[in-house]
Amino acid sequence: KRNIAVMTSGGDAPGMNANVRAIIRAAIYKGCKAFAVYEGYSGLVKGGPKYIREMSWHDVRGWLAEGGTNIGTARCMEFKERWGRLAACKNMIDAGIDALIVCGGDGSLTGADLFRSEWPSLISELKETKKITAEQYDKYKHLNICGTVGSIDNDMSSTDATIGAYSSLARICQAIDYIDATANSHQRAFVIEVMGRHCGWLALMAGMATSADYIFIPELPSSKKDWQDHMCKIVSKHRERGKRKTIVIVAEGAIGADLTPITCKDVLNVLVDRLHLDTRITTLGHVQRGGTAVAYDRMLATLQGVAAVDAILEGSPEIPSPMISIVENKIVRKPLVEAVKLTKQVAEAISKKDFQKAISLRDTEFNE
Ligand code: F6P
Repeated sequence: KRNIAVMTSGGDAPGMNANVRAIIRAAIYKGCKAFAVYEGYSGLVKGGPKYIREMSWHDVRGWLAEGGTNIGTARCMEFKERWGRLAACKNMIDAGIDALIVCGGDGSLTGADLFRSEWPSLISELKETKKITAEQYDKYKHLNICGTVGSIDNDMSSTDATIGAYSSLARICQAIDYIDATANSHQRAFVIEVMGRHCGWLALMAGMATSADYIFIPELPSSKKDWQDHMCKIVSKHRERGKRKTIVIVAEGAIGADLTPITCKDVLNVLVDRLHLDTRITTLGHVQRGGTAVAYDRMLATLQGVAAVDAILEGSPEIPSPMISIVENKIVRKPLVEAVKLTKQVAEAISKKDFQKAISLRDTEFNE
């Protein structure tokens, strides 16, 4: 029986708690010991009972719906260094852990895969420097890693949805519904910035779900003249048809054809100068990451948590670091390294304006 630890890493996302709860309970149910690493990789590097705690069935009671991550998260620099990973390796062995499940975004999962591939050399160094015994070396020679994808951005390849994305989308739509009321009353225009770093999924889906007039996403840059003319044409047409409000959604990573950012202020200036609309900017900010998880995220996080424990217990030599995904409504294992690689390639193709390549890369992942 294994000693399985779970950790959340990177930006928090609603549903991470549900994922931790499912992992801890599935591990205990299957006769394993379950541990939580607090404060992400930073807790793993620091180690000790403050950061690595054994968890009981009851410890995660009430976590299913809760937003954020109760075991904390951090963007950790030390783990990017070998000495940090060496300390993490030692701390895990001291705590008796032989498997690690990480819930996080692409950076966090890349870290997990690096840790796994480096494990044999880390553990050998600990043995040679007599920081661990020969028995410990034999017992902990292999580390099993598994990733679940927690990110509000829905920006990971090889999975249709990331844990947290639908909760964030729901929150954005709710906020825009509120804005609608006031915009309508004053016949105003609102330029709304939503999160999503390099990925326009949140902006695009929120735009569709709230019938926004215009949407800016990083995946579709256009020249200043083109977007200004096009937006003014569309917004004027909607106003002529009797629409009393204008909603423009700008993804935080939106860029123009020259690859410089398109900001909410740029958009406001055009709406004011060319269309003479009374315009306000609303940046939704971290409100989008907070609040309880929607039903879909609770379900996704639970199914993926159980699947992650199964992946650890069954082992999968053909996929040394599996990532638990959802593809066409089925929970599946994908090679974590490949998923991260594809995610980076898509982002790179987009930044080079090679949209054909980006689309074909996206297709590859689902047609495998
Ligand atoms: O990756 C999730 C995310 O919420 C992005 O959408 C956003 O750009 C970023 O995190 C914000 O990070 P922080 O909370 O560290 O400012």
